Amino acid sequence: MTTTGAAPTTTSSHSMTQAQFDKLRKVVYDRAGIHFQDSKKYVLESRLARRLEELEFDNFDQYLLFLTAGPFQMDEFQEMFNRITINETSFFRNEPQLDVFEKQVLPRLMETRSTHKTLRIWSSASSSGEEPYTLAMQIHRSLGVRLADWRIEILGTDISEKVLLAAQTGKYPAYSVRGVNPMVLQRYFKEEDGSYQIDPQIMSMVRFEKLNLKDRIAAKRFGQFDVIFCRNVLIYFDDEMRKSVIEMFHNQLAQDGTLFIGHSESLRNLDVKFEPIPVPQAFAYVKNA
Ligand SMILES: C[S@@+](CC[C@H](N)C(=O)[O-])C[C@H]1O[C@@H](n2cnc3c(N)ncnc32)[C@H](O)[C@@H]1O
Repeated sequence: MTTTGAAPTTTSSHSMTQAQFDKLRKVVYDRAGIHFQDSKKYVLESRLARRLEELEFDNFDQYLLFLTAGPFQMDEFQEMFNRITINETSFFRNEPQLDVFEKQVLPRLMETRSTHKTLRIWSSASSSGEEPYTLAMQIHRSLGVRLADWRIEILGTDISEKVLLAAQTGKYPAYSVRGVNPMVLQRYFKEEDGSYQIDPQIMSMVRFEKLNLKDRIAAKRFGQFDVIFCRNVLIYFDDEMRKSVIEMFHNQLAQDGTLFIGHSESLRNLDVKFEPIPVPQAFAYVKNA
């Protein structure tokens, strides 16, 4: 599932004043840590204009009241996040980085975990599932027959229920698999009426849960992981939220666990205890204390 950050056109007459934008972005930040810069006013305005129409509201003040003081606040937050998050993703996104996972991190983990043979991986902003299913395919092809001896748990979480529902179907339009290597496509997908269904064995390796990365207490219930992927979501957070999220990952990583982040993201200035894997394109960090 892909959406772009480009300015969509809207036919709605609902426009947002600067004061309404400031109030709304504060609500969004307080709830989810997502920071909307001034230049992104059009995103909130255009993506929520249809919602105002559905609710038959005349303006964003009415919507703000509904969102913050109405009896359906929690439901509306969910509805809003379904609409305002950027869910762009793809299978095998950033292959050089995924090669580091498959060819360096995974073999090392198989050695160090060879006694209890359990591997826990968290795709922490999994969008519509392409990222965690890709990791499952990589593990499946790397382990081969040895997979039967291992307990592999891949958790995909996201704040948006809409993308999680799509992920759980494991069914993707042709557009979503356009960049997938034909051998991988043939091995792990089944074409059905123009859609592509993920192999049931791959699906059984992945489960999905809703999680707001701001909610560190809720995240604790998922326990410790050997690898955490958090790609292409830190860019939407400010320094304070990024620090909080990275600290949470540090707490939830096993002692020698690895964190993968997006290629345009960094841990610079965050004063966290991670050592970068010194490989170009890795964007990966090993917990070092
Ligand atoms: C651009 S997608 C990245 C998907 C995937 N990690 C990738 O790199 O292809 C960002 C995802 O982060 C999710 N997200 C944004 N804020 C979040 C938060 N506070 N907690 C959890 N997920 C969040 C969005 O819903 C969206 O699906």
